[in-house]
Amino acid sequence: MRKRRKREHVENYLKTTFKGDTLLGDVFLEHNAIPELNFSDIDMSTIFLGKSIDYPIVINAMTGGTEFAAGINADLSLLAKEFNIPMAVGSETIILCEDDACRDSFKIVRENMGQEGVVIANLGGHATLEDVKCALDVVNGDAMQIHLNVAQELAMEEGDREFKGILKNIENIVKNIDKPVIVKEVGFGISKDVAERLYEVGVRYIDVSGHGGTNFIEIENLRNLTMDLTELYPWGIPTALSLIKCRELSQDLNIIASGGIRNSMDVIKSLVLGADIVGISGEILSYLVHGGYDNAREYLESLTYKMKMVMLLMGKKNIEELRTADYKIIGRLRELLD
Ligand SMILES: Cc1cc2nc3c(=O)[nH]c(=O)nc-3n(C[C@H](O)[C@H](O)[C@H](O)COP(=O)(O)O)c2cc1C
Repeated sequence: MRKRRKREHVENYLKTTFKGDTLLGDVFLEHNAIPELNFSDIDMSTIFLGKSIDYPIVINAMTGGTEFAAGINADLSLLAKEFNIPMAVGSETIILCEDDACRDSFKIVRENMGQEGVVIANLGGHATLEDVKCALDVVNGDAMQIHLNVAQELAMEEGDREFKGILKNIENIVKNIDKPVIVKEVGFGISKDVAERLYEVGVRYIDVSGHGGTNFIEIENLRNLTMDLTELYPWGIPTALSLIKCRELSQDLNIIASGGIRNSMDVIKSLVLGADIVGISGEILSYLVHGGYDNAREYLESLTYKMKMVMLLMGKKNIEELRTADYKIIGRLRELLD
């Protein structure tokens, strides 16, 4: 059942048609006609989870646990290695209840990326300490992602209906493992209030994973034969809003902006709004499944080239300078912030 669901998530993601809005379009950046920089001066490298990476992009959690998923993870991790960017594996819950063979589909990520690569383990909010240790062990993880997916579970016929105790459980995990814990949504966003509660229990890494990209209510609706959930497709906090509100909280909170990050402007705007790094899932998966490794590679190549173009057009030569850039917020994002 779990294995079939994993495959259906990828297949149904590719069938989704609803277009959400991250509201990053409501962020205006100013053109600098005299940037006094050469293209070769632009440096997008940064430090993430204690390791040096070439671009502030993580290939975010998607899959694992089946042969089909192993192929995807193998390709994604080779891309992550080639571009020297981090990668998170999909939920490892499957290794806790399935045969040992399914572990290989996760282990391949560390094998391909080597010890110098940044690999992130992934489990849900009910994971026990023992589960977390096991998930970290399988990929020799640099950090543990804990995903919050209440909307997805509710949209699944067979999904969880019990959500009490998750915050306490996260606190227990944060206090008892020696690796950073990244708490993430799966496409519905993290509000300031939730970020505050996570911060209070010791979480210092939040992946906002907001509305505007992958839509798990739609993905699950395509598998749900008993109820039509179409009216819930617009649910969620747009990525730009979630990011701005979480950033208000504290400067020592590391923020990953994800949810609908597709192009260079999405990445640069997220960094200007205060993200430390951005996460991309659905977009890279589409390029990979539709056109293979080389297609996904070309996507990352042109994405990173265009990110440098935008930085030069702003007159900012590195990530540190980018964070000081002026911006204006207009339209619906402005209204929601007011
Ligand atoms: C096919 C697919 C499977 C996913 N599986 C997981 C998962 O196992 N664990 C998780 O934390 N997030 C999972 N996600 C959510 C992503 O990590 C990310 O939070 C979300 O897709 C929003 O980013 P995007 O718009 O770039 O896709 C999955 C996304 C996709 C597209």
